[in-house]
Amino acid sequence: MEKMIDEQLQGTTLALDSKKDHKRKLYIESYGCQMNFSDSEIVASILAKEGFNTTQLLEEADLVLVNTCSIRDKAEQTVRKRLEKFNAVKKINPTMKVGVLGCMAERLKSKFLEEEKIVDMVVGPDAYKDLPNLLQEIDEGRNAVNVILSKEETYGDIAPVRLQSNGVSAFVSITRGCDNMCTFCVVPFTRGRERSRDPKSILEEVNQLWDQGYKEITLLGQNVDSYLWYGGGLKKDFVQASELQQKTAVNFSQLLDLVAQAQPGMRIRFSTSNPQDMTHDVLYTMQNHDNICNYIHLPVQSGSDCVLKKMNRLHTRQEYIELIDAIRQIIPDCGISQDMIAGFPEETEEDHKDTLSLMEYVKYDFGFMFAYSERPGTLAARKFEDNIPESLKKKRLQEIVNLQQKHSLYRTQKMVGKEVEVLIEKTSKKSEAHWSGRNQQNTVVVFPKENYNVGDFVNVKINECTSATLIGEAVGLVKK
Ligand code: SAH
Ligand code: F3S
Repeated sequence: MEKMIDEQLQGTTLALDSKKDHKRKLYIESYGCQMNFSDSEIVASILAKEGFNTTQLLEEADLVLVNTCSIRDKAEQTVRKRLEKFNAVKKINPTMKVGVLGCMAERLKSKFLEEEKIVDMVVGPDAYKDLPNLLQEIDEGRNAVNVILSKEETYGDIAPVRLQSNGVSAFVSITRGCDNMCTFCVVPFTRGRERSRDPKSILEEVNQLWDQGYKEITLLGQNVDSYLWYGGGLKKDFVQASELQQKTAVNFSQLLDLVAQAQPGMRIRFSTSNPQDMTHDVLYTMQNHDNICNYIHLPVQSGSDCVLKKMNRLHTRQEYIELIDAIRQIIPDCGISQDMIAGFPEETEEDHKDTLSLMEYVKYDFGFMFAYSERPGTLAARKFEDNIPESLKKKRLQEIVNLQQKHSLYRTQKMVGKEVEVLIEKTSKKSEAHWSGRNQQNTVVVFPKENYNVGDFVNVKINECTSATLIGEAVGLVKK
């Protein structure tokens, strides 16, 4: 997802507009993927109706919620450390209640209550609508747990409260869960089976965002290409749907087309694409609409057929290369990024070299790279021994990271001297006098502010670059 806001970036504190008559204070932190950040906005919306007003001050909170990530062991350790901190605060503020949301809640269920005494409430990703009841239970002094995964829940009817928003870009979730069962991945267990959201409610949300002044949306799902609306229900039950339902079903490329047409001024992104599910239709829809960004996050995890098979990624290296070739042919200036895992069980030096050579072929714009972390309960954990020593995983990971850095620089250098379309998002982290935004390919661009404003689409001439950033000067507003 645009991609993982990795756990290393730490949790972000979110703030709700305050209403004076609200009595209780909520402090909420999110870790992990963009879906978690988006879910926290749904939680904030549900709790606003219960009279909660958010605070950035942990010490004054009546309710502390932490939306957790289980994707790698390190993500879970980060959350456990935060719970220690909450424990210390509880000594000063003994009436404070603590709830864990998200993937760790789903994975550990009521075990969480035993393992972490500080926790009062455990709520899985499909159970947020039950929060009012769960809160009542903890108010009455009982612990509360709801980790039921749903066949239907998409939160399509909840208008998220946009937290910590720049007012320019927003996430819109379109599918929940994942049916792919990559052997290393905990997501299918923590987020359940795949289901899609009604296109009508997606379009309503997008239109509303446009009316509120937003200029860019990212359609979110664990596997967006698998989006399929046929009137509700699990993706896997589509085969049993009526003939009419099957005929009138909306797939991802059709949804993308609908959204792009509904708001031609809105920039559209999507994340994450899975190579085995991405169709050429999606590429042609991207080609047809200027407002769909020429950028695809296309995780591959490994360049070795042998490892791909053990990972249950249902495509070969060659098929992935063909997809890359199709992207380059249909959308020549498309930005492409990757996710890679170094040190999957039994990975040989040869397999690792295959990953490096695939990277050489694609020359990704950027990537998100991880050392394999065994997750309890996954197929890989049951089937394979985690037999690559940590030091070797780290060494391979470093080689992947170094190569990616070289390719990122190759890509950014190719932009020097060119003009790119940038949506201004915020003041640059490094300089008050510069704006920061992204081009279509999702690379950060900084340039002097002059008289431009946040939310403007600006043509920027690129003068220099680092491997991660393009630096330039504005040429003028983009004529739309
Ligand atoms: N489809 C999802 C992928 C979620 S996981 C999405 O929308 O982002 C994000 C990335 O984390 C994966 O692509 C993979 O590279 C990495 N990852 C997942 N499980 C992992 C594990 N057990 N060890 C190391 N990295 C992992
Ligand atoms: Fe995980 Fe594979 Fe789905 S990485 S989220 S099981 S596509």
